[in-house]
Amino acid sequence: MSETAAVPTAPLRARAEIDLAALRANVRTLRARAQGAALMAVVKSDAYGHGAVPCARAAVEAGATWLGTATPEEALALRAAGLDTRVLCWLWVPGGPWREAVEADIDVSLSGMWALREVTEAARRAGRPARVQLKADTGLGRNGCQPADWPELVGEALRAEREGLVRITGLWSHFACADEPGHPSIAAQLDRFREMVAHAERQGVRPEVRHIANSPATLTLPETHFDLVRPGIAVYGVSPSPEIGTPADFGLRPVMTLSASLALVKHVPAGHGVSYGHHYVTPGATTLGLVPVGYADGIPRHASGTGPVLVDGKWRIVAGRVAMDQFVVDLGGDEPGAGAEAVLFGPGDRGEPTAEDWAQACGTIAYEIVTRIGTRVPRVHVNGNQEG
Ligand SMILES: Cc1ncc(COP(=O)(O)O)c(C=O)c1O
Repeated sequence: MSETAAVPTAPLRARAEIDLAALRANVRTLRARAQGAALMAVVKSDAYGHGAVPCARAAVEAGATWLGTATPEEALALRAAGLDTRVLCWLWVPGGPWREAVEADIDVSLSGMWALREVTEAARRAGRPARVQLKADTGLGRNGCQPADWPELVGEALRAEREGLVRITGLWSHFACADEPGHPSIAAQLDRFREMVAHAERQGVRPEVRHIANSPATLTLPETHFDLVRPGIAVYGVSPSPEIGTPADFGLRPVMTLSASLALVKHVPAGHGVSYGHHYVTPGATTLGLVPVGYADGIPRHASGTGPVLVDGKWRIVAGRVAMDQFVVDLGGDEPGAGAEAVLFGPGDRGEPTAEDWAQACGTIAYEIVTRIGTRVPRVHVNGNQEG
């Protein structure tokens, strides 16, 4: 096993181990599902909490030819780290770093006229064309250009292209319900996307890539693949939804394992209140284990009384409230000792819970569980530079 981060020899309070071999295998699996399409690995939000730069590098090694970020700052950070792969970023506000993005050869997404005006001005100042992708709102109702406004955006972007200020590299959109098999909005969005692409192409747009498929669409809707698929969560080995399958059903392997070292194990009598508010009271004499991570580390407070943790071969449940820096598990008389490993979630091979188990325990989605892990938890990237 090779390491890409310096790993202190002393046991860590907590760590998120990131298995880059699993990430590479996931990218290959996704590419095989979308043969004929290129793959953009979405690495926004620090690669869903997994560490943007090492994950982006691993994805590129496994054949991703595009990287996707939300913010321009995330895209520029990839360039600053030396990644020269095509990068698309899509979440802009007026006054954003358009010129820096143009100069760094980043593809930028435009959803409206204000953005086209700002990027053409930046291209003029930079003295080179901006690579732009026009985003269509085909029904998500979030970012993207409404069909009624599309002719103007397309027309003005083409005019800017003729003036040498932009190159229109892509036409794209995003699904609302691709993780709900058979949802009527899927076919409706696909029809709308085809119409909006056809309109732009009739006007003279020659995009390099047309794309709409996120992870669930990449995994289950081959008719949505077009020239490029854009998976995020599946790259990290997490299923977009338990409704459509487990990671194993798709040949994916979870990349993050979150663990901590017990800070204390102690005997307590029956009737002992545990953690703030005393929402857990020991039903009998028992042992308690102190897990030194809390909501400041991204452990949801909603896991109070429900979150599962593997300690000493058994699942234990968070006893009482999750506090800012720590929570307690009832060890039922077992005495694993301070320093014993507590695995919150991982691939599940050792019997540990998965991020999906935590999502269900907390009433959320696994995306949120992995993405919210805080900066105080070191990411330890393993299997960074070997084949496989
Ligand atoms: C525009 C866009 N494309 C692709 C993705 C990747 O989605 P998923 O993680 O479901 O694959 C996201 C994530 O939300 C996104 O915002």
